[in-house]
Amino acid sequence: MSHSANPSANSSVHPGSAYQLRCAPIPLVRIGLVGLGQRGLQTLRRYGDVEGAQICALASLTAEEVERGNALLAESGRPRVRTFVGEEAWREMCALHDLDVIYICTDWKSHARMAVEAMRCGKHAAVEVPAATTVDECRTLVRTAEATQRHCFMTENCCYDWFALATLHLRDTGFFGTITHCEGAYLHDWRELFSEGHESARTWYRQSCRHGGNPYPTHGIGPIAQLLRFHRGREMGTKTGDDAKAGDRMHHLVSMTGQADGPDSLLGHANHTLITTERGVTILLQFDGTTPRPYSRIQSVSGTAGFVQKYPLPTVHSGTLALMGEAAENHLLRSMTDHAARLWLEGKEKGVPNAMNYAMDQRFIHCLRHGLPLDIDVYDAAEWSCLSELSRRSALEGGARMDIPDFLHREE
Ligand SMILES: NC(=O)c1ccc[n+]([C@@H]2O[C@H](COP(=O)([O-])OP(=O)(O)OC[C@H]3O[C@@H](n4cnc5c(N)ncnc54)[C@H](O)[C@@H]3O)[C@@H](O)[C@H]2O)c1
Repeated sequence: MSHSANPSANSSVHPGSAYQLRCAPIPLVRIGLVGLGQRGLQTLRRYGDVEGAQICALASLTAEEVERGNALLAESGRPRVRTFVGEEAWREMCALHDLDVIYICTDWKSHARMAVEAMRCGKHAAVEVPAATTVDECRTLVRTAEATQRHCFMTENCCYDWFALATLHLRDTGFFGTITHCEGAYLHDWRELFSEGHESARTWYRQSCRHGGNPYPTHGIGPIAQLLRFHRGREMGTKTGDDAKAGDRMHHLVSMTGQADGPDSLLGHANHTLITTERGVTILLQFDGTTPRPYSRIQSVSGTAGFVQKYPLPTVHSGTLALMGEAAENHLLRSMTDHAARLWLEGKEKGVPNAMNYAMDQRFIHCLRHGLPLDIDVYDAAEWSCLSELSRRSALEGGARMDIPDFLHREE
């Protein structure tokens, strides 16, 4: 069942929107990096490999953290940079005139306000996942990107995973027929990170156990959203009808969270969220960070003509084709030809630690240097991140239906 014959009906992309936003090309992208924990330092290392980008300033809570950042820059032959230390010092960094991007790697709670301030200071924001934790924060991100005409790029690296990139190509060849159902997840046993004295006893892991819904939805929904072209292909005033190239959007969800157990009730809380789109595709999203369930993002796509799934083993089924494991992987890898996919293959060839991060970084900087719209825009950041609050509210109300806002279109 479809919720609307024409998903664009009665709504329009308004003037001043940040949809397909193009900004002036930036020959050398100068970055101020905030949050030098595990992910921030990893980002700093990765950017040593990105041509046309330079880390120019660092901000974090402690002098020790920024010094570690500067030491890593020096070790890799890059210049030491200006540093900003303390809870609010990142604001001074945002105000600098010689930065183009504020790259945010702090914990979830501060992402949205930092991204908003960065855009208000005329910078593009790059923000770790999730970009926001509430629907209100999502709206503020969107309205700020629109008002400032700055990019807000959520660094959802799973969208640059080889399997996700291959499914985009399969969709374009018609492999799936009509896509009917997708599954995504973040199943990652984080239990050891709760142990006392563990170096990475980070607050956001604990926060996620207390959440009550799916606090970390973007790894699961990101690749599905790109596959189904959420909010794309529906330009102002166009009637997309049943055009296979038309976009879609998430319409509503219901969510349930399983029971908790263990010391301090930190274990369990597995969340299952069922979403339906305007066109009637169903999506199952799962989150489980505290049971021995093996790592998986599932990544399955069911269509009337074809089926693929990444975990536990890559699988491709269509007509007489039935491949699994290495055979499926080789088959899919052969189909990867677009720019992001070529970058993933380049990263693999170079032997980088994580080719999806490599492809994401290279694509982000490539688009900024060429003044192109970004692969992940502020509407994606809002649509994917808002599932955190909505899944929680639904689960707390026993699986109540929650409508998912249309952040792109304003009702006329
Ligand atoms: N995309 C991925 O695969 C991936 C992987 C890991 C983490 N992450 C995301 O990255 C983010 C950071 O995770 P982490 O594991 O590095 O956490 P972390 O706790 O190790 O690091 C957070 C850092 O932010 C700094 N910070 C906090 N508040 C600050 C403030 N007001 N001003 C300046 N600095 C501040 C802290 O000092 C710390 O260095 C999280 O949002 C997480 O979801 C994403």
